[in-house]
Amino acid sequence: MSNVKFMSGENIPLEMHKVRMVQKVNLLPVEERLDCINEAGYNTFLLKNRDVFMDMLTDSGVNAMSQNQYAAMMRADDSYAGSETFYRLEAVLKDIFGMEYFLPAHQGRACEHIIAHTLVKPGMVTIMNYHFTTTKAHITLKGGSVEEIVNDEGLKIKSDASFKGDIDIAKLNECIAKHGKEKIAFVRIEAGTNLIGGQPVSMDNMREVSRICRSQGITLVYDASLLGDNLYFIKVRDPKYKDVDIKSITREITSLMDVVYFSARKLGSARGGGILLSDKELYLKMRELITLYEGFLTYGGMSVREMEALSVGLEETMDFEVINQTPIIVEALCNELLASGVPVVTPPGGLGCHVDAMEFCSHVPKEEYRAGALAAAIYLASGVRCMERGTLSEQRNEDGSERFAEMELARIAVPRRVFTLSQVKYTADRINWLYKNRSIIGGLRFTEEPAMLRFFFGRLEPTSDWPSKLAAQFRKDFGESL
Ligand code: F0G
Repeated sequence: MSNVKFMSGENIPLEMHKVRMVQKVNLLPVEERLDCINEAGYNTFLLKNRDVFMDMLTDSGVNAMSQNQYAAMMRADDSYAGSETFYRLEAVLKDIFGMEYFLPAHQGRACEHIIAHTLVKPGMVTIMNYHFTTTKAHITLKGGSVEEIVNDEGLKIKSDASFKGDIDIAKLNECIAKHGKEKIAFVRIEAGTNLIGGQPVSMDNMREVSRICRSQGITLVYDASLLGDNLYFIKVRDPKYKDVDIKSITREITSLMDVVYFSARKLGSARGGGILLSDKELYLKMRELITLYEGFLTYGGMSVREMEALSVGLEETMDFEVINQTPIIVEALCNELLASGVPVVTPPGGLGCHVDAMEFCSHVPKEEYRAGALAAAIYLASGVRCMERGTLSEQRNEDGSERFAEMELARIAVPRRVFTLSQVKYTADRINWLYKNRSIIGGLRFTEEPAMLRFFFGRLEPTSDWPSKLAAQFRKDFGESL
């Protein structure tokens, strides 16, 4: 939502940057796309990027960096211990987040590993608005379990709620009473809640959760990986914050938390991660693990160049005209799809546009991975690579039965400041075509299924010859067009 109005009255997202370095991309003919998705076992993670036109798999580690980030990389101080680069990053983090201690780690899941290792003991429960795949895997690996208590609106595809990532406060109180505070490893709030459509959490909700946790002596952990999007939504959707600057909103959030961690592949448009804390005892416990699993304390598995890029990227995250760029493009993409009746998660979140595969592919049996099939079909129809966020991304139950996800989504991520509006319109055009031809899409079944995080490397096959039929229909409708 930029302040620039168009004479036509049209609501057009306006890029507040110019592109000065480019990468050529290729769009393969549909017949070749069919071969590629076959070779990839119908898993978009296994496609080669050279066969992809627009890589919208994720917003992780693929965001455009600014000229100031690249410039900063050149002044990096390469040393194992005591690098000047580390102290610069630490100072920026202290200034933005106002927390006393910082531990560097190579990416977000490494932070999750350290946090779970320190706080989770077998039989303990972690309570959160919603899980993220790697978060849950680290907690269960330590013998803990996860309880999700996002409010009911959060799990509805269509909603008018501004903050669908909010924790249900009544459920939080019940959960604490049910388990007893000693059994709760920590409560976790995920900013810009990823798996339910990049949905934000309100300040009022965070304040209340923090009050409850502090009154019970329960550690409150904040996953700030998608903080940039969440800050944008607090500013535009909560009237109380309309005139509050982004840095003050950030400080207010972190003052409510005990532990803050982030993936710098998202936050700060670089690569890496880190944990911020105010409690010295907890900091010292985690510090030992950083040197064991990540690297020495002044780099934690990151390259010094990335750390310099991160320092600048974090400062730039405090600029509203920087963080508004993804949400306005996501909204434009959602609106183009909604206009053709395509079911998407509303209101639009950050991170990407989420297509509801449960409805899009309602004719496909739910055991045949509707969202996975839709992600493969989107690649076939467009050369755009998106990601399944549904049952395939779940772990099976302990007895081996399928755990059906609450939402079956095909996530079309919008890497920050990477794609132009015409490319976004192309994506919408092809998905709108696919929606008209959705009856052709069929299901998938596993041919190779890894036991953990199966969505990364699992291989599948179609349950009929639907992919060839879809390619043939494309050729019929689009003629010679790519
Ligand atoms: N937390 C959230 C909310 C995330 O979205 C991610 C990663 C992580 C933690 C883990 O961070 O990748 O640096 O280890 N999300 C990526 C995605 C992978 O595509 O959504 P990481």
